[in-house]
Amino acid sequence: MPSSGHERAPRPAVRPLTADDLPWLETLFAERWGGSVSVSRGVAHDTTALPGVIAVLDEQRVGVATYRIDGRECELVTLDSVRDGAGVGTALVDAVAGAARAEGVERLWLITTNDNLRALRFYQRYGFDLVAVHRDAVARSRALKPSIPEIGLDGIPIRHELELELPLPPSPGSGG
Ligand SMILES: CC(C)(COP(=O)(O)OP(=O)(O)OC[C@H]1O[C@@H](n2cnc3c(N)ncnc32)[C@H](O)[C@@H]1OP(=O)(O)O)[C@@H](O)C(=O)NCCC(=O)NCCS
Repeated sequence: MPSSGHERAPRPAVRPLTADDLPWLETLFAERWGGSVSVSRGVAHDTTALPGVIAVLDEQRVGVATYRIDGRECELVTLDSVRDGAGVGTALVDAVAGAARAEGVERLWLITTNDNLRALRFYQRYGFDLVAVHRDAVARSRALKPSIPEIGLDGIPIRHELELELPLPPSPGSGG
C-alpha cells in the first residue's frame, strides 16, 4: 500500500519545561547553538531562563521550544527538534501558540537567519509569514555572541535576520 510516510508516527506529547530539563537543554543548546545565549533584534536572551515546552516521544525528550511574552506579542526564541519529520516541531509550535494565546497574545513572531532554509520552509508551511528582512543584522548579533559562525547551513554565509509572524486571532468564546 502506498505510504505518505506520516501515518506510522505517533504524535509527540508536549509538556511545560521544568528545572529537571535544564541539564538536557544546556547540552542541546551547547551542541546546536554554541551555548544558551540567543540573539535576536540586537537583544541577547538566556534561553535556559525562559518559559518553554518539551516534546516527548517514547518517554524521551525529542524537542524544545522557548518563548518570551511581551504584552500582546510573543517571540518564539528557540525551536529545536531532535527527531526531524516526526511532527515534533509542529507540536511544539502548536503548544507555544496555545500558551501565548491563553495569555492574550495576538502575534507570535520569530527570527531565523538567511542560511536556515529548512526552518524557513517549516515555518512557512506552518502558516508563518515573512514580514521583514533585517539586512546584515547578524553582524550586530556577533558583537553580543562572537561564536555565531560566518558560514552557516549548506555553506551559506549567515548575514541577515528574517522575521516571520503568525497572527493569533482570539479564539471564539475567549471573551476578547
Ligand atoms: C525546523 C525544525 C524545528 C523542524 O522540526 P521537525 O520536528 O522536523 O518538524 P515537523 O516534523 O513538525 O515538520 C516537518 C515535516 O514533518 C511532517 N510531519 C508532521 N507530522 C508528522 C508525523 N506525525 N510523522 C511524520 N512526519 C510528520 C510535516 O508535515 C513536515 O513535512 P514537510 O517537511 O514535508 O513540510 C527542525 O528541523 C530543527 O530542529 N532544526 C534545527 C534547529 C532550527 O533550525 N530551529 C529553528 C531556528 S529559528
